[in-house]
Amino acid sequence: MTATTPARPAPADLWHHYGRNRAATDRTVPSSFFWTWGQDTGPGAELLGALAGRHVADLGSGAARHAAHLAVQHNPAQVDAIDASPAQHAIALDLYSHLAPTLRPVHADVTQHLIDHPDHYDAAYSVFGAVDFADPRRLLPATATALRPGGLFVVATLGHYLTGAPAEPDVVHADIPAKNPDGTAATMRRWVLQEHVWTKLLDEAGFTGITADLLPPATPGPRAADTLLLRACRQP
Ligand SMILES: C[S@@+](CC[C@H](N)C(=O)[O-])C[C@H]1O[C@@H](n2cnc3c(N)ncnc32)[C@H](O)[C@@H]1O
Repeated sequence: MTATTPARPAPADLWHHYGRNRAATDRTVPSSFFWTWGQDTGPGAELLGALAGRHVADLGSGAARHAAHLAVQHNPAQVDAIDASPAQHAIALDLYSHLAPTLRPVHADVTQHLIDHPDHYDAAYSVFGAVDFADPRRLLPATATALRPGGLFVVATLGHYLTGAPAEPDVVHADIPAKNPDGTAATMRRWVLQEHVWTKLLDEAGFTGITADLLPPATPGPRAADTLLLRACRQP
């Protein structure tokens, strides 16, 4: 008789509830692309350069609304909307299957997916996506590996905690409140780092031409936040 190791149970999907109400009523492809936390101001998809015929990766794409916009308006060869959450992947498939094969929802941990696809993408981006929630010491080198030399990487992340507390001066995560699918309380890791910390991490990961801009919200308020917009190229 051979001993078998019992399968490890899948971790709870802490993104089960995210965007669910909107998905029930709004099935449109957004007509604009925003980077800011409020999704209502600032620069748009032009920061990704000309995308016609290009391969693009959305890291932590959620319902894939940003990716759908790119697929419809910017004529890329393919946009991979990568998300580890079964619920978010299912929502993306439900909303945007009709945009295949240009839009391709991919159900995967983004770091592993990027490691498995070296020199594959011309551009990669994250809008408060996996770059906020995966260990940057693994994710950023994996992104550099998956980009072609000279490929663009653009990240929108929090400029400070939503409580107003400042971003971290070192590479440390916070355990922030989250919800299990059954509604019970959980926590998840979020990396909210100061500009110089991100810049050093990007440099060490193999990026060049690194810039950081702080974008204020269009309207101040209790749910408003500054967006830290990071841009870099994979070393040619
Ligand atoms: C705040 S949501 C943002 C979703 C989308 N970018 C948007 O703007 O609506 C963060 C997303 O990142 C995904 N995510 C977090 N860590 C991830 C990882 N390691 N691999 C893939 N997706 C991840 C989550 O599943 C979630 O859908």
